[in-house]
Amino acid sequence: MTERTLVLVKPDGVSRGLVGEVISRIERKGLKLVALELRAVDRGLAEQHYAEHDGKPFFESLLEFITSGPVVAAVVEGPRAIAAFRQLAGGTDPVEKATPGTIRGDFALETQFNLVHGSDSADSAAREIKLWFPDL
Ligand code: TYD
Ligand code: MG
Repeated sequence: MTERTLVLVKPDGVSRGLVGEVISRIERKGLKLVALELRAVDRGLAEQHYAEHDGKPFFESLLEFITSGPVVAAVVEGPRAIAAFRQLAGGTDPVEKATPGTIRGDFALETQFNLVHGSDSADSAAREIKLWFPDL
């Protein structure tokens, strides 16, 4: 079953020059890019994107971080694309949960600076793709 998922290379990934690395892993997995854009993120977009985390202790620093520099936003398509990209990304904590061989496991040290975002369910993917790429 073909799915679409929203992928972000977050500001740490862009500033560290890891955009090509992330895109390359997506492509080598066999997933297809259907949209790809370098984007500034304002506070409103950040709040909507991370709405599920509103009220959590890390919410404010998360918003500050995600608005701190440009991100690369992509829509990625393929069979089980949502789970497939989550697998490529690795767990949220890049040391305790992400294993070597994953993007976070290979390149990140701190949960806040874990390089990439990927939608976590079909509902999230639909909501996030509409938010980031309303014309798609
Ligand atoms: P979450 O949606 O739980 O993780 P994921 O990105 O794997 O779907 O959290 C969103 C982001 O918030 C996460 O990528 C990094 C940040 N975060 C923190 O800074 N501290 C935390 O304790 C958690 C759970 C997340
Ligand atoms: Mg999440």
